[in-house]
Amino acid sequence: MAWTSSPVPLLYLIWIGFLFSSGDVAASARCMETERKALLSIRTGISDTHEWLSSWDGKDCCSWAGVECNAATGHVIKLDLHNPGGPSSNISNVNPSLLELKHLSYLDLSGNYFDGASVPGFIGSLTKLEYLFLSSAGFGGTIPESLGSLSELVSLGLDLNSIDGEIPATVGDLRSLQTMDLSSNDISGEIPQGIGNLSKLQILRLSDNKIGGAMPASLGNLSALQTLDLSNNEISEQIPDSLGNLYGLEYLRINGNNIGGAIPSSMGNLCNLSDLDASENIIKGQLTGFIEGLSRCRSSGIWYLRLQNNEISGAIPSKIGKLQSLKALNLGSNSLSGPVPASLGNLFALSDLNLSSNSLVGALSEANFANLTWLDSMDLSHNLLTVNESQDWLPPFQATEIRMGSCNLGPKFPPWLKNQTKLSHLDLSSNGIADAFPDWFWELCLSDLILNVSYNHMRGSLSSSIECFWTVRVDLSHNNLEGFIPKMDPMLVFLDLSYNLFSGPIPPAMAAGTDYLAFMLLSNNRLNGTIPSSFCEANHLQVLNLANNGFSGTLPDCWKDSLALKILDVSGNKVSGDIPETLGLLPQLKSLHLNDNGLSGRIPSSLQRCKDLVTIDLGQNKLSGVIPRWIGDELSSLRVLRLRSNMFTGAIPPQLSLIASLQVLDLARNDLSGELPPSFGNFSSMISVQNETKSVLGEEVTYYTESTIVDAKGLQLNFTTVLSLVTSIDLSGNNLSGEIPDELTKLYGLHFLNLSDNKFSGGIPQNIGAIEQLESLDLSENNLSGRIPSSISALNFLSHLNLSYNNFSGRIPSGSQLRTFTDPSIYASNPQLCGSPLLKKCPGDAPSEIPVEASQEEDGDEDEYGIIWFFVGFAPGFVVGFWGFMGTVMIDRKRRIRYIQFLDMICSWLTHR
Ligand SMILES: *[C@@H]1O[C@H](CO)[C@@H](O)[C@H](O)[C@H]1NC(C)=O
Ligand SMILES: *[C@@H]1O[C@H](CO)[C@@H](O)[C@H](O)[C@H]1NC(C)=O
Ligand SMILES: *[C@@H]1O[C@H](CO)[C@@H](O)[C@H](O)[C@H]1NC(C)=O
Ligand SMILES: *[C@@H]1O[C@H](CO)[C@@H](O)[C@H](O)[C@H]1NC(C)=O
Ligand SMILES: *[C@@H]1O[C@H](CO)[C@@H](O)[C@H](O)[C@H]1NC(C)=O
Ligand SMILES: *[C@@H]1O[C@H](CO)[C@@H](O)[C@H](O)[C@H]1NC(C)=O
Ligand SMILES: *[C@@H]1O[C@H](CO)[C@@H](O)[C@H](O)[C@H]1NC(C)=O
Repeated sequence: MAWTSSPVPLLYLIWIGFLFSSGDVAASARCMETERKALLSIRTGISDTHEWLSSWDGKDCCSWAGVECNAATGHVIKLDLHNPGGPSSNISNVNPSLLELKHLSYLDLSGNYFDGASVPGFIGSLTKLEYLFLSSAGFGGTIPESLGSLSELVSLGLDLNSIDGEIPATVGDLRSLQTMDLSSNDISGEIPQGIGNLSKLQILRLSDNKIGGAMPASLGNLSALQTLDLSNNEISEQIPDSLGNLYGLEYLRINGNNIGGAIPSSMGNLCNLSDLDASENIIKGQLTGFIEGLSRCRSSGIWYLRLQNNEISGAIPSKIGKLQSLKALNLGSNSLSGPVPASLGNLFALSDLNLSSNSLVGALSEANFANLTWLDSMDLSHNLLTVNESQDWLPPFQATEIRMGSCNLGPKFPPWLKNQTKLSHLDLSSNGIADAFPDWFWELCLSDLILNVSYNHMRGSLSSSIECFWTVRVDLSHNNLEGFIPKMDPMLVFLDLSYNLFSGPIPPAMAAGTDYLAFMLLSNNRLNGTIPSSFCEANHLQVLNLANNGFSGTLPDCWKDSLALKILDVSGNKVSGDIPETLGLLPQLKSLHLNDNGLSGRIPSSLQRCKDLVTIDLGQNKLSGVIPRWIGDELSSLRVLRLRSNMFTGAIPPQLSLIASLQVLDLARNDLSGELPPSFGNFSSMISVQNETKSVLGEEVTYYTESTIVDAKGLQLNFTTVLSLVTSIDLSGNNLSGEIPDELTKLYGLHFLNLSDNKFSGGIPQNIGAIEQLESLDLSENNLSGRIPSSISALNFLSHLNLSYNNFSGRIPSGSQLRTFTDPSIYASNPQLCGSPLLKKCPGDAPSEIPVEASQEEDGDEDEYGIIWFFVGFAPGFVVGFWGFMGTVMIDRKRRIRYIQFLDMICSWLTHR
């Protein structure tokens, strides 16, 4: 539509280009009248609100801005209407009068906005065109086949548009083409074979499209090619051998495709190659042929060799030491094995070395680094490398990045770091280092440092001179560090000291002085004292995890609505007093863990303002009063509500069932009375089966793993990764009375139900079998009576059942799943109950029937089942079909043990990833 001749002026044209080009015009040329009219006609299609075309007036069109004529013939040969930046402008209507400019050899419309219009087919009629630039101009549609008629075209720029469809086979006819740029479009299909006919092509850019298929072997015919960029497409199959014919190739990018096979040895002939990026593919095989080839070049000029994220195997060829121009070598995330060749030490120009995530073994020696004077960044993480230097060896380089996580550097802290004074990133995590930080390390006074020494056995205390360290991220978690937490850098953004033996108080100034602190992770230490109120001044703090320490006193009551706190975890301390009213001011709070403390008083009503709350765990405190009904009315994002083991009284508010997202409701061990609200059958998240394994807190919460203890199956199960799958109601240990409402049987997706130790009366709902996902049902210690409904035996996933200490009567149903419950104690103290597995016979039973299976074995099994759960809690990604699989396993006793072993395998596999 935009290329029709009807002059519908669309918007405006900001044509800064004219300011630059108007001076170059060949002034002496006379203008052809037909061409002048054509230009004027073109002008009518341009919305020139900024009057950039105001010079388009008078007879001499050759002097108009952007127009250039041949000095001898007077024909218009160049039309440059490009917009060199600034706000994108709209020429939406260039009309076919362009065809009158028969001698045009240069047309540039790039940088304008054509609103998704196709490149017009009639451009193919401008057969004198040598330069056609339509980049970044909002073109859509497909590339017209007629473009193949431009047999004199030297340079074609269609990059940065929204062109789709395939590359027409006619591009093979562009015999004069030297440069073709189709990058950053939506082009699909395959690269046409005919491209190999473009014998003058020097630059071919097809990156960032959706081109698939194989690279055509005919690419090898492009003998003039210097630059080939096919990156970020969907190209598959192998690199054709013929690519090795491109002796002039300097720049080759094929990264970000699905290219497999090995790198052909023929590519070792590419002696002019200076930049190869083949990363992010599925390239296999070994590097030997290719590298040895390159090493035979009289002078290999390769600077950048990037092959990371492939499946390359075998050893790193020692001939790599011959590629002496190399500045960057990235072989990370492959399957390389064997030792790092000593010849690497010859690469004196190397500044960036990445061999991470391979299976390299052995000791790095001084020779490996001998001449690496300019090494700036080194990533050897996730290999099995040791560094075997003499005690006083110091590397010749001053690196800014050294990453050696999960190597094998321990047990000594690497002494060769002694003169690395420029480091800004040091990763020594998971290296089995069992040492104290040497004094010299703190004396390096590194600045802007990212430091990760987590998962080692570091001992001793941190020097108080850590102050001179200018750290932005410190992760020393999972070590045996002790002593006080030193005062830290005010620029600190991330501090993880969790799982150590640090003691004493948090330095009060630590939070107050930091304007950047976002993550403060101090859990599982021996810290004590009160929690400093300076945290109320930490404006960027998102995660504050102080769990499992010895903090006492009251919680700070100075929180403000300007704070960004999302996670507050103070669980497992000795904090007392009230829950502060000001907590309700935290607008972004998602997870509140105050469980396992000595908190008293009521739940502050201000908390109803924290609408984003997903988890509230106030269990194991001394809280009292009623459970506020606003929890149900206001906190509609809640997924976990745990108020267990407090002193709450009154009735359960039926409003709780309004929380459509609630999955875990634990009100056990309180003093709650009244009836179980029938509306509890309406919990939406327990009616459907939860199958999403995303973090319950959402993607934006990082550096905190939400976890909740669910008491079920007689165990305390710590759910972390699969918490989003759990559904549980635990109301045990209260004074609840009345009947169990039939409505509860609507909770098809409920996994755990515990109503034990209450005063419920009446019978079990007849339709209990409708809670199909139920795995654990505990109704013990109530006043329940009547027959056990036979539908209970339809609960195929049930693995834990306790009906003891009630007044049930009649025969225990003997359906399929119930037959696996052979432990008579789950029916104990129901005097009128009879039948297997109880010894008491029902009237009319044959006298010889004796329970076959012994109950002793059962306890052991149950523990093992609990252990399974614990592992699953840690197992990222292991989820799909979990519940179903578990159910079948519980039925088949013989397979159960095998299954546990199978799970162990999964777990060890997961921990090795
Ligand atoms: C260009 O035109 C399109 C559609 O007519 C319009 O949406 C866009 O805002 C215009 N851009 C400018 C810079 O005027
Ligand atoms: C052009 O390419 C096609 C397809 O590869 C081929 O069949 C044809 O022979 C080539 N023409 C010339 C002149 O090279
Ligand atoms: C380091 O470079 C020097 C001088 O170029 C050379 O003599 C020596 O052999 C090199 N060392 C290694 C280990 O390659
Ligand atoms: C580090 O130590 C090595 C070996 O003593 C020395 O060659 C190098 O110059 C030192 N670098 C710095 C910056 O001190
Ligand atoms: C903190 O613990 C230390 C022992 O590690 C003890 O000496 C000190 O009194 C404790 N302080 C408080 C406030 O509990
Ligand atoms: C989860 O279950 C719903 C409803 O049964 C279904 O539509 C959805 O596709 C499931 N999602 C996954 C990831 O299985
Ligand atoms: C549960 O597991 C999480 C994640 O490992 C951990 O942070 C938390 O302390 C554990 N909870 C308990 C009570 O052990």
